[in-house]
Amino acid sequence: MNVLGIDIGGSGIKGAPVDTLQGTLIKERLQIPTPSPATPNAVAETLAEIIRHFNWTGPIGCGLPTVIRSGIACTAANIDPSWIGTDVVKLLSTHSGLEVSVLNDADAAGLAEIHYGAGKNATGTTIVITAGTGLGTALFRESTLLPNTELGHLHLNGKIAEHLASAAVRTKLKLSYYDWARRFDDYLHRLEELFWPDLFIIGGAISKDHAQFFPHLTIKTRILPAELRNNAGIIGAAAAVRL
Ligand code: BGC
Repeated sequence: MNVLGIDIGGSGIKGAPVDTLQGTLIKERLQIPTPSPATPNAVAETLAEIIRHFNWTGPIGCGLPTVIRSGIACTAANIDPSWIGTDVVKLLSTHSGLEVSVLNDADAAGLAEIHYGAGKNATGTTIVITAGTGLGTALFRESTLLPNTELGHLHLNGKIAEHLASAAVRTKLKLSYYDWARRFDDYLHRLEELFWPDLFIIGGAISKDHAQFFPHLTIKTRILPAELRNNAGIIGAAAAVRL
């Protein structure tokens, strides 16, 4: 089954048709800068542009950086606050005239890694972390997702973890990989002591540089870089339509 996967992020909205059996992109992805402000209607317009680009008439799966409960956005940590309370499924399906399903962006990336990427053969408990503008998390038991975990909002040394250890914080404070890894390591220790996972998978653009920070991590849990990198959000959002 082919599904148009959409990943709505803080700086870009990415989309591509996905073969959900293989977990691969069928066409080169299109990325459009996220409108500013990224209000629900402005994002629906960008989605329409992506639909036109691919001449798409089939189902759509969409990942959004908010908690999604029964199709409704409940939070807005790194996106316009006007999303809170928006019925995202209704908005995007009415606007596009197509069947749209929606989930949290980190849950989408996690599903992609568990089904087609670094977590393909994972057993037990896996936590997928996307380190980007925020810290997104997806928690799995075998391949079953517990959605909307929001573990990037745990408190760490009196602060919200994603304000200390996201990839955006590293860029903003111009931290070396070593200095950032110490913060990220504290965060992983926290997750380790709370969840005792069998595996961490680290995604987000920073995962391509894993060789520069994995050696500085002191956790005991097995850790792997994400395999699908920047396409995980698109692939997982599409796959979620048929899972
Ligand atoms: C949001 C999460 C999201 C993560 C990654 C956090 O700020 O609360 O819902 O998954 O950023 O985008």
